[in-house]
Amino acid sequence: MYTFKDYYHNKVKLSFDDHPFSKKPKHVWVICKYKGRWLLTRHKDRGLEFPGGKVEPGESALDAAIREVMEETGGTVRKIRYIAQYFVAGKAGHVIKNVYYADIGELTERETYYETDGPFLLKSIPDNVETNEMYSFIMKDGVLIHCMKHLNI
Ligand code: GTP
Repeated sequence: MYTFKDYYHNKVKLSFDDHPFSKKPKHVWVICKYKGRWLLTRHKDRGLEFPGGKVEPGESALDAAIREVMEETGGTVRKIRYIAQYFVAGKAGHVIKNVYYADIGELTERETYYETDGPFLLKSIPDNVETNEMYSFIMKDGVLIHCMKHLNI
């Protein structure tokens, strides 16, 4: 278990165990690879981030992950696996999020990308991601660092 503060100084707990905080988390985040590059989305307010979002009523977290990738990037998930779960103690309640690693088979142009401006491909995540204003706050804490180390890619 790793414990650290996020960009907004909220306390975060991250674990690579099987669903340690909730069997039914309400949020998902998906680290995506497409043809050897990272596939991110351009969130209109937050900036560049891996796709993700909220699990809808009656939906599984895995299905939400696959849906969010499609909605925010146009990417079709070819392979996906659970890697971690994290708990953020926010000012107005907590958030529990599953992290997945997905291999994207196809990238299709869409009419809408919801609250994002669609896909963004990157050869590598820049070293200055924590201070780079182009990137979303959700890319700026130990979740990304530890997950990347765990994936070893
Ligand atoms: P909407 O309900 O869609 O408007 O989103 P929201 O931002 O009000 O709510 P959400 O439940 O997505 O997040 C609530 C708060 O939890 C955010 O303002 C963040 O402070 C925090 N949070 C959500 N997701 C993350 C995350 O991936 N990482 C970190 N560090 N904090 C997060």
